[in-house]
Amino acid sequence: MQKINKICCIGAGYVGGPTMSVIANKCPDIQVTVVDINADRIAQWNTEDLDQLPIYEPGLKEIVGESRGKNLFFSTEVDKAIDEAQMIFISVNTPTKTYGKGKGQAADLKYVELCARNIAQVATTDKIVVEKSTLPVRTAQAIKSILDNSGSEVNFEILSNPEFLAEGTAIDDLLHADRVLIGGNDTPEGQAAKDALSAVYENWLPKERILQTNVWSSELSKLVANAFLAQRVSSINSISALCEKTDANIAEISRAIGFDSRIGPKFLNASVGFGGSCFQKDILNLVYIARSFGLPEVADYWEQVIIMNDYQKRRFAEQMIQTLYNTISGKKIVLLGWAFKKDTNDTRESAAIYVADALLEERAELVVYDPKVNAERIYADLDYLNTRSPEENRKLLTVATDPMEMVQDAHAVAILTEWDAFKDYDWTAIYDKMLKPAFVFDGRRILGTKQMNDIGFNYYKIGES
Ligand code: NAD
Ligand code: UGA
Repeated sequence: MQKINKICCIGAGYVGGPTMSVIANKCPDIQVTVVDINADRIAQWNTEDLDQLPIYEPGLKEIVGESRGKNLFFSTEVDKAIDEAQMIFISVNTPTKTYGKGKGQAADLKYVELCARNIAQVATTDKIVVEKSTLPVRTAQAIKSILDNSGSEVNFEILSNPEFLAEGTAIDDLLHADRVLIGGNDTPEGQAAKDALSAVYENWLPKERILQTNVWSSELSKLVANAFLAQRVSSINSISALCEKTDANIAEISRAIGFDSRIGPKFLNASVGFGGSCFQKDILNLVYIARSFGLPEVADYWEQVIIMNDYQKRRFAEQMIQTLYNTISGKKIVLLGWAFKKDTNDTRESAAIYVADALLEERAELVVYDPKVNAERIYADLDYLNTRSPEENRKLLTVATDPMEMVQDAHAVAILTEWDAFKDYDWTAIYDKMLKPAFVFDGRRILGTKQMNDIGFNYYKIGES
C-alpha cells in the first residue's frame, strides 16, 4: 500500500481549513498544504494573530498554532501543491445553482469541475483524488472522465470521503468522529487507494469507525445523513406549532420521545428554524436528483422538510408582529444572535436573516448583536436578499457592540442564536431598561419561562403556549 506523505487540499473554507489542520496535527509525517484561489482567505490563515483566522471554531487556533509552518501550510500556489501531492482533497463550495437547468435546487458543480480540470492539467505523477465536498451521487464519474481525458499518462483514482463535522464543534467532531466514510472502486487500485486514505485516519481514529463502501453509496450517504438530521428538526418544529395550540410543552415531548432508544434524544430541540450552508442546499439537491430520476413522490417527501423550515421562520416573525399589537413600525426590537447556531461566525442561511427581513418589511427599527458576527456581514446578508435597498437596510437596522446599552427603550428582544452568554445576561436589568410591557421572544428556548415571567416579561418561547 502506498504510504501518503504529501497531501494537498483545494479549498481553505469551513471544511478544508479545520479538516486539514487536524490531519496535519495528528499525522506529523504528512506534509499538508491547503490552497485556495482566494488570496485574502489564505492571508488570514497565515496571520500571526491566531485570533484573526478566517474561521472561528473552538480549539481551531490551538491546532493551527501547533502545526502551521511545521507540516501545515496555507498557500495560493495551487498548481505547485497539486503536482507535489500524492493525495488531493477537493473541498470547494458546492452551492445551489442560481442559473440555468436545476436553478434553485441542483448543486452548482462548476468549482469542482474547475478543480478537476486544474488537476488534469498540472499533474505529472499518479494521484488519489478525494471528493471532500458534498456532491450529488455519480459526480465521481464526471471527475474521472475529465481526469482521464487530460491526454497525459497519469493515473487517477477517485475516492469519496464526505465530511460530517458540524460547525461550532468542528474540531471535536474531527478528533472523535462517529465514523469516517470512504467510497471507492472495487478494483485492486481502488482498494489500495481506500486503504491509503484509511491509514491517514487510523493515526487517531479506531479502524472499526472507518467505513468503506462503493463510491455512489458514499456520495449519496452524505446527502441522506443531512436530510435525516434536518428532517428531525423539521419534525419537532412542526410539533412545536401544535404545542402552542394545545398547552402541551415541546421540551416535555422531546424528552418523552427521545427516551425511546429507537428515536434517541439528539436533534430534537425546537427552534426558530435550521440554518447553515448545507441542510437546505443538500436537501434541495436530493429533491432535484429524485425528480431527475423520475421519483416525484420521493422528491415531494423530502421537499416538505424545507417547506416546514420556511414555515417555522415565518411563523416566528408573524408571532412577534401579532403579539406586538400587529404593528411594529418604528418600534425598537433587539435581535440577539445572527449566526446560524452558537460557537460559529458562520451566518449562511441563518434563520435570523429571514426573521429580520420580515420585521424590516413591517418597518421595525432593528438592533442586532452577535458576539462573533460583524456589521459588514450582517448588512451583506440582508442586502443579498434584495428586498430593500442597502441604504434602507442601514437606516432601519443598526449593529450593536454593547448588549446592555442596546436594550434601552426597546419594545422587544428576540433570541435567534443560542449563544451561552445570552443565558447569563442580567435579565432583570434588561427589563428595567425596556419599555413596558416588555416582550421577549425566545426562538432558541434558552431561558426559563418562570424566571422570565417572574421578572415581568411577556415571554414567548417556541413550543409553549
Ligand atoms: P467554503 O465556501 O467555506 O470554502 C470553499 C473554498 O473553496 C473557498 O475559500 C473558495 O475560494 C475555494 N475555491 C473554490 N473554487 C476553487 C478553486 N477552483 N481552486 C481553489 N479554491 C477554490 O465552503 P465549505 O463550507 O468549506 O464547504 C465545502 C464543501 O464541504 C461543500 O460541498 C459543503 O457542502 C461541504 N461541507 C460543509 C460543511 C460545513 O460545515 N460547512 C460540513 C460538511 C460538508
Ligand atoms: C450539519 C450536520 O450536523 C453535519 O453532520 C454536516 O457535516 C454539516 O451539516 C454539513 O454538511 O454542512 P451544521 O449545519 O454545521 O452541521 O450544524 P448542526 O448542528 O447540524 O445545526 C444545523 C442547524 O439546525 C442549526 O441552525 C441548528 O441551530 C439547527 N438545529 C439543530 C435545531 O434547530 N435543533 C436541533 O435539535 C439541532
